Parts: sequence; structure tokens; C-alpha cells
Amino acid sequence: MQFPEPMTEGPLSVETALANRRSVREYAEEPLTPDSLGQLLWAVYGVSEEGPWNRRTVPSHAAIYPMEIYVVAGDVEGLEPGVYHYQPLSHSLEEVQEGDARAEVAEICLEQDWMESAPAMLVITASFERIQQKFGDRGVAYAFFEAGHMSQNCYLQCEALGLGTTCVGGFKEEELMDMLDLPPDHHPMMVMPVGWKA
Ligand SMILES: Cc1cc2nc3c(=O)[nH]c(=O)nc-3n(C[C@H](O)[C@H](O)[C@H](O)COP(=O)(O)O)c2cc1C
Repeated sequence: MQFPEPMTEGPLSVETALANRRSVREYAEEPLTPDSLGQLLWAVYGVSEEGPWNRRTVPSHAAIYPMEIYVVAGDVEGLEPGVYHYQPLSHSLEEVQEGDARAEVAEICLEQDWMESAPAMLVITASFERIQQKFGDRGVAYAFFEAGHMSQNCYLQCEALGLGTTCVGGFKEEELMDMLDLPPDHHPMMVMPVGWKA
């Protein structure tokens, strides 16, 4: 799926988004649109300055950008249920796996059944290898910092779009990697179910 150009202006101030942001665990039975999903992915890890560094919406030590996003889609207009890999440079999704994996993800996230009702989930992963090449062991900490930046962007962009999300850190890492068929170096950091607020 190719997403439209993201918006860089919106009706809600950063201050209002910060004041109102809350973890949301109930979602309306309404599909995500390509526009809303694309906007969200851009806010979380999209390119905001094309050029030699392709800088993103989040800071990254030495602009290495060791993170990846997988989308577990169940109810997104124009998108077959499946697992997709976000491509920030082309602002598009590449299919990784067919079929609705939301229930299995919720199960692996320590049976947090409420997650299943989200039309999609973002799985934020980190390549420790990529960041450790430059920063050694400390690189792992930088990946965790970056996941935090991404998660907060997700919360704020959700608030501005009328969506809700929750940062889910409780899951069995190896089971999630197996189920999503992730490359051995893409370690899940957090899962973020997203949907319209109920
Ligand atoms: C690292 C991290 C992991 C979290 N994991 C979960 C989780 O597994 N399940 C869940 O329902 N909420 C999870 N949360 C959300 C917190 O419960 C929530 O942020 C906290 O209760 C404060 O509420 P608020 O976000 O609505 O302000 C997590 C938050 C963080 C920062």
C-alpha cells in the first residue's frame, strides 16, 4: 500500500495533545483508513527531511535509525488482513504475511484480550546490531530511547486524529518474533494497538 503525503499541519496544538493524551484500550468498530494509518506511521518513524540523512520525525543517535515498524492489520480499508513492514523512505507498506494475526498477538502479549478489538497494531522493533556497530553495548540503550520517542509520537498523533492507542510492553519476545516471522535482529520493543476511540 502506498500512502498519501502526510499532513504537517493539523487542528490540534501540541499542548492540547499532551494534556489530553491517555492510554486507550477500547476502540470503535470502525476500520482505519489508509490516510489515518499512513499519517500515524509517518508520525512514528516517517521521513521529515529528504536528503543524504533522510531525517525522521524522531531523533536518532548519529541518525542511524535502527528501528522498524511492523503493522498487524485486521481492519484497514483497502488492506487485506496481514502483517506488513513499513518502508519510511517510500512511505508505503510491504506485505510480510497473510491473515489476521491480532488474536495471536494479543495472546502473546500476556493474554491482553482487549487488544484484539483494535483494527491494527504497530509492532516497534529495533536492530541492536545496526546501532551496536557504532556504539557498542550502549547502543542497546539508545534503541530503547528511540522506541520511547516513537511511542510518544504515536500517542500524540493519535490524539490529534481522534484515534486511541496504548503502549504495550508486556509480551513474550521470542514467541512474538516467531509468530510475526521477524528477522533474527529485529527485536520487538513494544506493541501499540490503534483504533478510533469508542
Ligand atoms: C514501557 C511501558 C509498558 C506498558 N505496558 C502496558 C501493557 O502491557 N498493557 C497495558 O495495558 N498498558 C501498558 N502500558 C501503559 C501504562 O499502563 C499507562 O501508560 C499508565 O497506566 C499511565 O496511563 P496513561 O498512559 O493513560 O496516562 C505501558 C506503558 C509503558 C510506558
